[in-house]
Amino acid sequence: MELPCIISPFITGLRFNFFDWFICIGWHVRLLNGHRRIIAGYRFKIMQTSSSNIESPYESARMLGEYLSFHYGSAVEILPYENGPRGALEFHGRCVEACLEGWKLPGDACALDMGCSVGRASFELARSCGRVVGIDYSTRFIDAANQLKETGALGYGRLEEGARFTECVARIPADIDRSRVHFETGDAMELRVDLGRFDIVLAANLLCRLRTPSKFLARLPLLVKPGGRLVLTTPCTWMEEFTPRENWLCSEMTGTLDGLHRHIDPHFKLVSSFDLPFLIREHARKYQWTIALASVWTASCVC
Ligand SMILES: C[S@@+](CC[C@H](N)C(=O)[O-])C[C@H]1O[C@@H](n2cnc3c(N)ncnc32)[C@H](O)[C@@H]1O
Repeated sequence: MELPCIISPFITGLRFNFFDWFICIGWHVRLLNGHRRIIAGYRFKIMQTSSSNIESPYESARMLGEYLSFHYGSAVEILPYENGPRGALEFHGRCVEACLEGWKLPGDACALDMGCSVGRASFELARSCGRVVGIDYSTRFIDAANQLKETGALGYGRLEEGARFTECVARIPADIDRSRVHFETGDAMELRVDLGRFDIVLAANLLCRLRTPSKFLARLPLLVKPGGRLVLTTPCTWMEEFTPRENWLCSEMTGTLDGLHRHIDPHFKLVSSFDLPFLIREHARKYQWTIALASVWTASCVC
């Protein structure tokens, strides 16, 4: 007969497949014959916490459908309800208006659309600029933007409810010269050194998705030509899941616009700030209606 002689705790680290590590803790008994038997044990998956290992939500198929609809859906496709917030439609067109309004764009101007997602604002900027660079961290979004550049159209599934989708097509208007636009993946906080300088830099709803927004803001004086224009829009949705609290541009006493002043004065002079609503359709009966804070800046000659 086997009798337990020692009951002792155990902790081990185990790898159950190529990617996942687990910690197992529990109790085992050492039997008289020298064998060990586990009498109670628990397995904990080790969460990967470094930012580079967290899969961006912007790589998911659901987000791709939402953003293609947000950027390219017609007013009727997005908002068939009479009493919905119509003023929040065509967000990207209104961002580009803010980039162009009230100043004379130099001939053959170039523009940068940081956090361009699937590219609508980049294509709209190409109506007025000879060269537009759209950069986003999401490979999935940039692949979609590049397909739109190559062929002018891209089919996608739009969520109706549950797991029911309808087929839609995103199209670039025929009067836009798509060859003026270049898309690439990149990190707003670690931009390549040879990116160059632009007459217009637009960063729509990017800041509060960055881990360290100050890194991107610090690069701006070198990205916008003196006298050029910077347009930042942000819903000010600061979340620790994207941005550690100590990096938020707002504090208990001050708002995001104060934070922007703190980081980019005196390199930029504020021209105006205003509300810029937008509407993202999640499914046929659910929307995100958000009022972004837009700020328009002119680059000083101080660098
Ligand atoms: C809220 S969406 C806004 C997208 C687009 N500007 C718009 O207005 O529809 C934020 C975008 O920023 C991108 N993004 C997040 N972190 C980034 C980073 N470090 N560098 C560049 N893009 C980033 C995401 O992939 C996503 O496309």
